[in-house]
Amino acid sequence: MCGIVGYTGKSSALNPVIDGLRRLEYRGYDSAGIALPTQIGKPLFIEKRAGKLINLEEALKNTPETKSGIGHTRWATHGGPTDANAHPHLDNEGKLALIHNGIIENYIELRTELEKRGHKFKSETDTESVVHLLSDARKSHNGDLAAAMRDICKQLRGSFTLLALHSDNPTIIVGARRNSPLVVGVGDGENFLASDVSAFISHTKVALELGQDQIVEISPQGVVVTDLTGKVMTPKQYEISWDASAAERGGYPHFMLKEIYEQPKAIADTLIGRLAGLDVKLKFKKFNKIVIVACGTAYNAGLVGKYAIEKWSGIAVDVELASEYRYRQPSIDKKTLVIPISQSGETMDTLMAMRYAKDKGATIFSVCNTNGSTIPRESDAVLYTHAGPEIAVASTKAFATQLIAMYLIGLEIGKQLKVVKKELVEEIIQELSELPAKVEQVLETVEPLRELTRTLKDSQSILFLGRHVGYPTALEGALKLKELAYMHAEGFAGGELKHGPIALIDVGTPVVAIMPPENSILAEKMASNIQEVKARGAVVIAISEFEFKSADHLIRIPQVHEFLQPVLSVVPLQVIAYEMAIARGNDVDQPRNLAKSVTVE
Ligand code: AGP
Repeated sequence: MCGIVGYTGKSSALNPVIDGLRRLEYRGYDSAGIALPTQIGKPLFIEKRAGKLINLEEALKNTPETKSGIGHTRWATHGGPTDANAHPHLDNEGKLALIHNGIIENYIELRTELEKRGHKFKSETDTESVVHLLSDARKSHNGDLAAAMRDICKQLRGSFTLLALHSDNPTIIVGARRNSPLVVGVGDGENFLASDVSAFISHTKVALELGQDQIVEISPQGVVVTDLTGKVMTPKQYEISWDASAAERGGYPHFMLKEIYEQPKAIADTLIGRLAGLDVKLKFKKFNKIVIVACGTAYNAGLVGKYAIEKWSGIAVDVELASEYRYRQPSIDKKTLVIPISQSGETMDTLMAMRYAKDKGATIFSVCNTNGSTIPRESDAVLYTHAGPEIAVASTKAFATQLIAMYLIGLEIGKQLKVVKKELVEEIIQELSELPAKVEQVLETVEPLRELTRTLKDSQSILFLGRHVGYPTALEGALKLKELAYMHAEGFAGGELKHGPIALIDVGTPVVAIMPPENSILAEKMASNIQEVKARGAVVIAISEFEFKSADHLIRIPQVHEFLQPVLSVVPLQVIAYEMAIARGNDVDQPRNLAKSVTVE
């Protein structure tokens, strides 16, 4: 996710662009940049800096007085957070600037062709391929930037919001969107383009909704929207009812709820360009052991990964709490592959475990959501998740994409070692591609669960049961409840209940049971576990793919391959924790005693 702003109108552009970027900084904050026209037909003024927006603001000196401009605050996907990789990107004449949010899947083939045409590249980003493509298209459309944009959008694969500005017509800004947000702000003699309304809400509350594959051209005089054929469209106009802070949360009351609902897109973005295989240079046949090291939610994702990676690769997988791993002086050598999982890429426990393993000769293949952070920088290979910035302390969409990374790695190793059947690979790939829609389905059914959760707000404790991959899911559900509701919660393997924990069950104790697939032998065993706790007075909430009648409450989820079920079954657990936090009056996005990234051991 990145923050994108464009302004054209009667005022100096610097303020609305920088002010817009400030309001969008939550969408990405590893670098920022701005492009402003100077004189017609002359090279643009451009300034861009790695780091927070303040670095750009401090670098802005002698900016031209101009009434249009575009700005960008970045969440890096391709190419680390450096000045060169920061947006905007320019064509070779310096007269065309482009900013982008999303992922261009075919950027490498475009770059190869464009370099053959003589274009010089200065960054590692996917975006730079687009600005050179647009520069050529503009020339073939006699300087018509909107026509050129329509032309190149037919050549791009992936997700994108694009804004472009050329110094030949400096008051015109052209935008395009596909699977990535772009909204128009309509002012009096001035118009705005942005990733979301928070960028311009202090200037105007009148907005236009843009549809998929639409091209928008704004000038001080007006707004023209077309489809890719050039047919003029009539966008829906609406009055923004949010205040500025609500707008930053996309209208959601909390970042956590927004991020729960962003999971389908986060999963889809993490899958882009990877269903056919991973671009990883490791030779897996040299490893006889895989060790996943992580903390908290990332650790729970690793526990799910163990099932899939071990089954599909045939290599033994251990999952270790990073804070414990190195202190037991584990056996590590060059045949060990260590997979650190970390949303922030800065968790000290995980970083120190990784360094310890690396010193002992292990190969490091990290899974991370933050491009250019310490853990991936020190890894031999990295699989970036594309969840976008996760602002809420409680991890939700990052967890979902860490699961996706586990599945992709398991398939990749199995394929490289030729130990996984082609039919299974095709089945899993098909199921992975269907996950975003299935998560959407779950999200459409969670409202009753929020009401049920509120009736449990005075419970002393809630227990979570699961078997197989449902067991780490139960651990994740318990962790979410602990960190958000400040309520005792515990996750158990269903089969463990009779070995002690069932003594915790009392009349009215809420138990959340994650049901294995109906055709799994474990479904019967979980049904027995549920009977055991109900016999002692428990109130059972079952998360199930099938009509399971023995629970007091049933939350249905769509059917999916058993290894992939946690991606769906965790969503109701996230909602339970979210709603319980609200019912208890807690700070949902910044729960007490916690931090988003624990950079101390
Ligand atoms: C999860 O909701 C918590 N915020 C916490 O357990 C987190 O997952 C853990 O600290 C690991 O963080 P990382 O993924 O940034 O390494």
